[in-house]
Amino acid sequence: MNHTDEPIVAARGLRRTYGSGPTTMHALREVSFDVRPGEMVAVAGRSGSGKTTLLNLLGGLDKPDGGTLRVVGTDITALDDQGLSRLRRETISYVFQTFGLIPALTASENVGIPLRMRRTPVAQREQRVALLLELVGLRDHARQRPAELSGGQQQRVAIARALAGSPRLLLADEPTGQLDAETGLSVMALLRAIVDSEGVAAVVATHDPVMMSLADRVLTIADGRLDG
Ligand SMILES: Nc1ncnc2c1ncn2[C@@H]1O[C@H](COP(=O)(O)OP(=O)(O)OP(=O)(O)O)[C@@H](O)[C@H]1O
Ligand SMILES: [Mg+2]
Repeated sequence: MNHTDEPIVAARGLRRTYGSGPTTMHALREVSFDVRPGEMVAVAGRSGSGKTTLLNLLGGLDKPDGGTLRVVGTDITALDDQGLSRLRRETISYVFQTFGLIPALTASENVGIPLRMRRTPVAQREQRVALLLELVGLRDHARQRPAELSGGQQQRVAIARALAGSPRLLLADEPTGQLDAETGLSVMALLRAIVDSEGVAAVVATHDPVMMSLADRVLTIADGRLDG
């Protein structure tokens, strides 16, 4: 089997509606696209256009009302809760605008969470955590808790954590939305470098033209529909 040619994401005719009758909200209408390994795709569009809705479907956090969605060859709309949990543990990871770190844990411990969930042996876990903290430039901040880190540093911890379990698909919802322009730029450059070096596929919702310029492709959504 040739894994390199298999799309990581294959979305066909995805639909997601909220409510019914005259107040029906069409958050996504007939959305189709592929994402391949090593590809970074930006999802752009004004507020309310459907970016988060789309990422939530890709991440298995929500189900479409129509269409098909294959992630690494699996139809994820057909998975039960257990299957979705496994997918989120092993294949897909998420980076949020608000970082989502656990306040009581150090940077190292936060990065190690996915490895703990997989029961990776301690020595192996510590080695991988150290490597990832090095990769995101935080080797000297391993023992600090989130409140003792800057926003950009916290987001870099979140990126390291997202990579800990070697996912195939990295989803990021406005990962630089809470950062100043300069810090945001370093986080974007880091994401780009990681997609290249790890061969992971990434889908990044963003309002930022710089982030879009770093992407291989920009999908623009308006009223739940992809342009072009
Ligand atoms: N749980 C929900 N119930 C009803 N409507 C919803 C729900 N979640 C989202 N919507 C609607 O779906 C549309 C798309 O929302 P979504 O959050 O995907 O937009 P977005 O592009 O991520 O916006 P932003 O840039 O502000 O984050 C919006 O009109 C929103 O009001
Ligand atoms: Mg959103």
